[in-house]
Amino acid sequence: MMIEKINPRVKAIKVYVAGATKEEVARRHGLNPDRVVKLASNENAFGPSPKAVEAIRKYAAQVNLYPEDHPSELITSISEYTRASDSKIIMGGNGADEVMDTVIKLLIMPGDEVVVHTPTFPYYELLTTLYGGRMVKVSMPDDFSFPTDSIVESIGEKTKLVIICSPNNPTGTVISESGLRRTLDSGVIVMLDEAYVEFADRSYTGLVSEYENLVVLRTFSKAFGLAGLRVGYGVASEEIIGEAMKIKPPHNVNLLAQKAASAALKDLDYLHSVVEKTKVLREELFNEINSLGGVKAYRSQGNFLLVKLFEKDAAAIVSRLEKKGIIVRSCAGFGLARHIRVTVGREEENQAFMKTFKEVLG
Ligand SMILES: Cc1ncc(COP(=O)(O)O)c(C=O)c1O
Repeated sequence: MMIEKINPRVKAIKVYVAGATKEEVARRHGLNPDRVVKLASNENAFGPSPKAVEAIRKYAAQVNLYPEDHPSELITSISEYTRASDSKIIMGGNGADEVMDTVIKLLIMPGDEVVVHTPTFPYYELLTTLYGGRMVKVSMPDDFSFPTDSIVESIGEKTKLVIICSPNNPTGTVISESGLRRTLDSGVIVMLDEAYVEFADRSYTGLVSEYENLVVLRTFSKAFGLAGLRVGYGVASEEIIGEAMKIKPPHNVNLLAQKAASAALKDLDYLHSVVEKTKVLREELFNEINSLGGVKAYRSQGNFLLVKLFEKDAAAIVSRLEKKGIIVRSCAGFGLARHIRVTVGREEENQAFMKTFKEVLG
């Protein structure tokens, strides 16, 4: 009975299956959680900066107080880090997910269209559907490069937003500067999700000073290793940020997240060492996977690799790996039934994955 009272748009949304934790998988298969290797959610295998952990300890007893609504110290550090000169063009969020929610809520009214390439991060579609928008999906070609001509051609009168994820989850590919500029030149607002940008050879955050229709999303969940704290941010024109600030939830970046993220930004040597190690390990894993028969890893600029299984059913392989304590992501939810996505872990984690992957491929 109560279900009839629920917003029908919510009923239309498919359940988002978040990655299982080590503990859940250990319970499910009677394994020791300490032996389970999780390479499924593109987390940082090396953890956060020790300075961020120190900041969390230092402020832990002050969580009885609300944090600053517009975290000035953090915003100033982010504007230095991103070289976005004006702090009025940065907005914090409870993860990039929340900033995404705010941007889509800000723009989308029932009947509006959102152009996006596929496959990509599924949360964009959930939010667009929730606010009454319609997704116009543009398929990426077999090499998962960005179909910018088709994206620009798909922009019509009803288009309110174009979403670009670069490096793209799950493919690891990046958009070219000329492709992005052509999309921006259409005049439509472009939300560019750069969650994995620290692992890539290029960032387009600097284009915000040139294009007032560009909104860039960034996060501390990936390269900074702070996924458990939930802190992300948006960089955009003063006008867009000003309007977005009106509708964001109050105090949305929690105290410990503010302090830890600020401390992490003061320890960029740590960030750079983590990024460099991850890139070396990404290359090694890429080569090892491609030395096997019947599978293909794609070049990636994120901290993960998309892997195609030519002959095997990806869901069955993911489930066999899980039973042996290795968690990777099935890409069925991205519309790729023959693919899995593997996060680049620490060396011993990647080796454990490779050993078990060979066993389950048979
Ligand atoms: C492309 C992309 N954007 C955003 C997010 C979410 O970021 P956050 O943890 O900051 O909410 C993810 C998380 O996996 C992601 O893959």
